[in-house]
Amino acid sequence: MNASTVKWAGSVAEVELREPLPRRWAHSQGVARRADELAEVVGDAADLLVAAAVLHDVGYAPRLAATGFHPLDGARFLRDIPAAGERLVRLVANHSMALLEAEERGLRDVLEDEFPLLDDQLLVDALTYCDMTTTPDGEVTFAEARLAEIAVRYGADSLVGRFIRRASPDILAAVGRVEAALAAQPR
Ligand SMILES: [Fe+2]
Repeated sequence: MNASTVKWAGSVAEVELREPLPRRWAHSQGVARRADELAEVVGDAADLLVAAAVLHDVGYAPRLAATGFHPLDGARFLRDIPAAGERLVRLVANHSMALLEAEERGLRDVLEDEFPLLDDQLLVDALTYCDMTTTPDGEVTFAEARLAEIAVRYGADSLVGRFIRRASPDILAAVGRVEAALAAQPR
């Protein structure tokens, strides 16, 4: 992964999201800005994180939404593009505790099988942190507020509402680990 891959990722996300889903595109750009802020924390994986951040919700693009489970749809789209690379694809597939939502949808085995979770905990946490501290409009927020907003938007009894309730402790733990890593950076 290098700077040109980051540029490539941004233009792929823009082509897929900007027109049909402008708010999702604004969110994706905000998540990528958060990823920029973690460059020091993730070191060599900085470009990979930014590329995954800008592409994490690409599976919402109407053209790509085959199953309706956007982490899986996005990852299946990306795996056919050589420039994406396996780690990027697996990050997108598993962003923000997607495995738990997959479980609610009866797709856990499919997701795990096709796109195993990366064993780089900090990197997986970092993408969750970036997504969960960015509003749907791309502004910076706190994870607690973001989780509450998702529950309200989808409804507590909806599939996503159930998922986000189950995932909240893991999401907050991931955000906490990234905040600790940020705080440990020399300034
Ligand atoms: Fe997402």
